[in-house]
Amino acid sequence: MKPGLKVGLIGGGTMGTAHAEAYRVIENAELVAVADLRPERAQAIATKTGATVRTASEIIADPNIDVIDVCLPTYLHRDYVVAAAEAGKHVFCEKPMARSLKEAEEMKAACEKAGVKLGIGHVVRFFPEYVRAYEKVKAGAVGDVAVVRCTRGGFPLPTAWQDWYANYELSGGLVLDMIIHDFDFLRWLLGPAERVFAKSTRGREYNRLEYALVTIKFKSGAIAHVEGSWVNGGGFHTRFEIAGSNGLIDYDSRKANPITVTVASKDGVPGVPVPASAWVENPYTTEIRNFINVLDGKEGTIVDGNEGYESLRIALAALESIETGKPVSL
Ligand SMILES: NC(=O)c1ccc[n+]([C@@H]2O[C@H](COP(=O)([O-])OP(=O)(O)OC[C@H]3O[C@@H](n4cnc5c(N)ncnc54)[C@H](O)[C@@H]3O)[C@@H](O)[C@H]2O)c1
Repeated sequence: MKPGLKVGLIGGGTMGTAHAEAYRVIENAELVAVADLRPERAQAIATKTGATVRTASEIIADPNIDVIDVCLPTYLHRDYVVAAAEAGKHVFCEKPMARSLKEAEEMKAACEKAGVKLGIGHVVRFFPEYVRAYEKVKAGAVGDVAVVRCTRGGFPLPTAWQDWYANYELSGGLVLDMIIHDFDFLRWLLGPAERVFAKSTRGREYNRLEYALVTIKFKSGAIAHVEGSWVNGGGFHTRFEIAGSNGLIDYDSRKANPITVTVASKDGVPGVPVPASAWVENPYTTEIRNFINVLDGKEGTIVDGNEGYESLRIALAALESIETGKPVSL
């Protein structure tokens, strides 16, 4: 048995599998239990990690477990995070924090009341390219930031348990599910947003091929445009361009990552692309290590429920703008 915090994982799909891998290399945490409605998914993780297969309620009720890691579909985050907090567990929950602001408020309130920490999986803050760009901007390398362009996508709508990504009411589609990563990065970089305007192909005839463009005005005066695509356009990639009064930072994952490995899942169907680099530690590991280290008193800050909530506000404002055709003030 490893020393450190004991973790129970709920949800053993694409992200649960990625998180389970992270616990194998994090020194001060051990994955001790895993739950999934699909027994074969839980068993696959258990076999690899030595965790035991249990039900979600058994995991939440276990007094020996310190941390619950929620890797369930977005619309289930609220119920499991609240139950875990009420049982006195620290919780790490995948992004987007929830499907609605009300759910997110309830999650924050439950964790605050129980005095437990809530971490949200905004992993882009742990991708080295984004971290370096952030550090450069904060060091004044490009002067005052005027315009940022971000791109994310290039694969079809993800396949998952019960095809839940395809159900807009459950997943929030491309904007809530995927380009919330960029909204979170932009908020980290530029501070609070003021106004959002968005367009998407959702609801048109090609309803499994979503494309969206979101423009955001920030209180700093900066403008951002975020492009997301669940259209099979040559594989998953990300881009950003940060233009300031003094210079430009430009990044394109297709140029920076000459080795890419794309594998099909066991049933032969690709799930959600989980990007990794051949050069550095997997950012999902870095992200979870940060959460564990904060609980362990070794690091100071996490991407918490307040951060997850503010990024969710931008995503939901973008969805409202897509529906109404009008800009939404925050
Ligand atoms: N950070 C990222 O880069 C990233 C990438 C992909 C997905 N996500 C997020 O991670 C979350 C999970 O997405 P996913 O792609 O892993 O989904 P998935 O469908 O692959 O996995 C979800 C798993 O939960 C299980 N499940 C459903 N209800 C359950 C219950 N009540 N108890 C136990 N198990 C249950 C399903 O059997 C499935 O295996 C979503 O919120 C998604 O938006 C984040």
